[in-house]
Amino acid sequence: MTLLQVEALDCRYGLLQAVRGVSFDIAQGETLALIGANGAGKTTLLRAIAGAHRPATGRVWFAGADITHMPAHRRVELGIALVSEGRRLFPSLTVEENLRVASARRRGRWNVDTVLDVFPLLKPRRHMPAATLSGGEQQAVAIGRALMSNPRLLLLDEVSLGLAPVVVDAVYRSLGDVIGEGATVLLVEQDLTRALQVAGRVVCMLEGRVVLQGEAASLDRDRVVSAYFGLRRPA
Ligand SMILES: Nc1ncnc2c1ncn2[C@@H]1O[C@H](COP(=O)(O)OP(=O)(O)OP(=O)(O)O)[C@@H](O)[C@H]1O
Ligand SMILES: [Mg+2]
Repeated sequence: MTLLQVEALDCRYGLLQAVRGVSFDIAQGETLALIGANGAGKTTLLRAIAGAHRPATGRVWFAGADITHMPAHRRVELGIALVSEGRRLFPSLTVEENLRVASARRRGRWNVDTVLDVFPLLKPRRHMPAATLSGGEQQAVAIGRALMSNPRLLLLDEVSLGLAPVVVDAVYRSLGDVIGEGATVLLVEQDLTRALQVAGRVVCMLEGRVVLQGEAASLDRDRVVSAYFGLRRPA
C-alpha cells in the first residue's frame, strides 16, 4: 500500500525555487533515503511533508487523503513525525520527561520502555537532564521522542550530522531495529554508503529536482555519485 505520495511539488522562498516538480511515493513499511548535496532542497521537502512549509503547487497524499493544506499538528495526529536537523530538546527536563512530552495520542508499540530498548545507550541516562547528554545521546532522544507519537511515517533529517562515526554506528543500529519493527521511514542522509545500506530505495535531488531514483540494491554507486554532484556520466 502506498503510504505517502508526493506529486509535482514546488516549494519557494520568495523568488528562490527550492523544490521543483518533485514526485515520488513511499509504500508502507519501506525505508527511502533522500540524498543530495547542500541546498538540494531535502529539508524543504521534508518540511512540506510535515506541514511546516506551504508548497507553492503540487500535492501531498497520505494514506489516500490529500493533506497538502493540512496544518502540521493534524499531520502529527495522522501519524507523521519529523525529526528536524538540530535536535531541539528541553535541556532541563530529563530523558524520560523529554520522551513523555510527545506522549502518544496514537496507540502503538512505542513507549518509554520500548524506546529505551532500541536505544540502550539512553538507559543509564533516563533520569538525567537532556543538557548533560552527548550529541549522539541527544539525537537518540530526538528520534525516540518522534517514535513516542507512534508515527506511521517517520521523517528524519540528517540524524548523523555532527556525530562521531562510532556514535553514528550506534544510532544507525537502533534505526535498523526501528525499521525491523516495520516502521515506514523517509530519511535524509548525506553519507551515501549509509543511505544505500539502510534504505530499500533512494531518491537523489539536485538543485530542487529529482535526478535519480531507484532500488538501493540495483543502483550503481558511480551513477549515484554522478547524480549527487550533477556530473555527466562517463560514457
Ligand atoms: N528559510 C529560508 N529562506 C530562504 N531560502 C531558504 C530557506 N531555507 C532554505 N532556503 C534555500 O532553499 C534551498 C534548499 O534548501 P534546503 O535547506 O531545503 O536544502 P538541503 O538539501 O536540506 O540542504 P542541506 O544539505 O544544506 O541541509 C537552498 O538554496 C537554501 O539556501
Ligand atoms: Mg537540510
